[in-house]
Formats: sequence, C-alpha cells, structure tokens
Amino acid sequence: MSEHIRTSVEDGVLRLTLARADKKNALTQPMYVALSEALVRAEADASVRAVLLEAEGDAFSAGNDLGDFAAVASGKLTREEMTTHLFLDALTKARKPYVAAVQGLAVGIGVTMLLHCDLVFVAEDAKLSTPFVNLALVPEAASSLLLQARIGYARAYAMFALGEPIDGRTAASIGLANAALPAGEVRAKAFAAAKALASRPIGALRATKELMRDSETIAAVIARETEIFGARLKSPETAEALRAFAERRAPDFSKFS
Ligand code: COA
Repeated sequence: MSEHIRTSVEDGVLRLTLARADKKNALTQPMYVALSEALVRAEADASVRAVLLEAEGDAFSAGNDLGDFAAVASGKLTREEMTTHLFLDALTKARKPYVAAVQGLAVGIGVTMLLHCDLVFVAEDAKLSTPFVNLALVPEAASSLLLQARIGYARAYAMFALGEPIDGRTAASIGLANAALPAGEVRAKAFAAAKALASRPIGALRATKELMRDSETIAAVIARETEIFGARLKSPETAEALRAFAERRAPDFSKFS
C-alpha cells in the first residue's frame, strides 16, 4: 500500500484519497498499485456500494509522475515495470458507481480518469488539461475515444494537441462534469452524491453502467494507446520534453522532423 493513497469506507462509500499534496498528487508507480488494489477489493466488498475519488491539497492531480516517465525514457524503469495499466484495468472493469471530486489542477491522467467516473464534481476555478502532445505523448486511458465522446472532437483535440486547459465552469457546461461548485464545497457535494448512489439498488446501478459503457471497446482502445504511448516515451521528442520540465524551461522541438 502506498502512503500516498488513503482509503476509508463511510456510509457504503469507499473514499479513495490521493495524498501527495506536496507534489500536486502526481501519481507514482506504487500509487497506481494501491489504487488498483483498492478498486479490485471494492468491487468484491459488499459493504462498498459506491467509490469516491478525491484528493488532498490544492490540486486534484498533476498526472503521472514525470520522474517515472523520465526513468522509462532513460531505460531505468522498463515498460513492464510500469503499473499504470493495473489502475486502468481496474477502471475499465469497474461495475460499481464512481464519483470524483476535483479541485485545483487536474492534468493528464488526473483528467482522463474522470472519463471513467459516473458523476464528476469540479471546483468552478479548477483547471483541467491533457497536454499529452506537449510532452510528445499521446492520449491514454481510452481518452482518445472517451473525451471526444463527452465534449466533441474539436474541443478534445484542442485539449490534447494544444494542451488548452478548461476551467471547472466550462467543464460542467460542456458535459465533462456534472456540476461546478465553489472549491470548498466540492468534496462534500461529491460525497453526498456517492452516498445517494450507495442507497440505490446496486443491481440496477451495475446493469445501468454496463449498458452505458462498452468495456470491451474501452479495453481495446487502451491496448492500442498503450502501445503507441510506450513507444513515444522512448522517443527523442519526449526526452526533450522531460528534460525541459526538469530544467524548468520551454522545450525546443524544432530539431525533430
Ligand atoms: N510529476 C512529478 N512531480 C511533479 C509533477 C509531475 N507530474 N507535477 C508537479 N510536480 C512537483 C514539482 O516538481 C514540484 O516539486 P518540488 O517542489 O520538489 O520542486 C511540486 O510538484 C510542485 O509543483 P510546481 O511545478 O512547483 O507547482 P506549480 O503550481 O508551479 O505548477 C503544474 C503545477 C502541475 C502546472 C506543474 O508542476 C506541471 O506542469 N507539472 C507537470 C504536469 C504534467 O505534465 N503531467 C503529466 C501529464 S501527461
């Protein structure tokens, strides 16, 4: 279990809390393992009727830990040792209802995991971005399919390719979130919604989710994305992007053709 993931069950709701606030809740390999283990347990645990994904601190999540990406790029960490796929697999197979509470920044997988949640509450001033191309990467977590399904191709492409962020109010108005609220109210509102779901007939909730989500297609899209993402991680373009982040400078992609 990672010290950076906290779990508790309250009123039938599994609260899964990202707790690495000093690093903007960037997700490390042990955090993915802990998240996936908690989700697999939740599916089997009759006392859990809904799952709430939330975060400590002023950011929901800055996405994948860029140090881990750099370790893959330099060969220190093999793709096989990466554990992101465990988390994605658990999200794909989820049958219970998931709710998310998002305050502050949500970047990369901090946004794409929301596409696997059934209800999403965001702070009005939250800032959501999926700047995969800025890192010379490609969309993941089936977001190449799911983001455009929620907000349309044009907006999804601008988020992926230009890294254009959207604020919480916009996210709610274009269907990426259910509601935008003052930041201080988001977690309480999301918990109340999860509790409301926990009181509903779980058989009907499971069947509804199954009808609304094509998990086979999602798994196939993730497999295709993962292959390309993994190859991109080894590209000189990504190496430049990661070096630039570490050196706190803008990347220079002009030398690549
Ligand atoms: N991986 C690893 N560490 C990260 C991180 C990430 N994705 N995002 C933030 N951090 C760390 C920073 O390195 C910093 O650590 P330090 O205090 O030891 O220097 C700490 O978290 C705070 O981040 P900082 O950059 O100082 O905060 P900020 O408010 O100025 O900017 C972000 C926040 C999220 C905009 C900026 O950190 C960022 O762009 N992070 C990368 C996001 C990203 O590209 N994610 C992957 C998407 S696929």
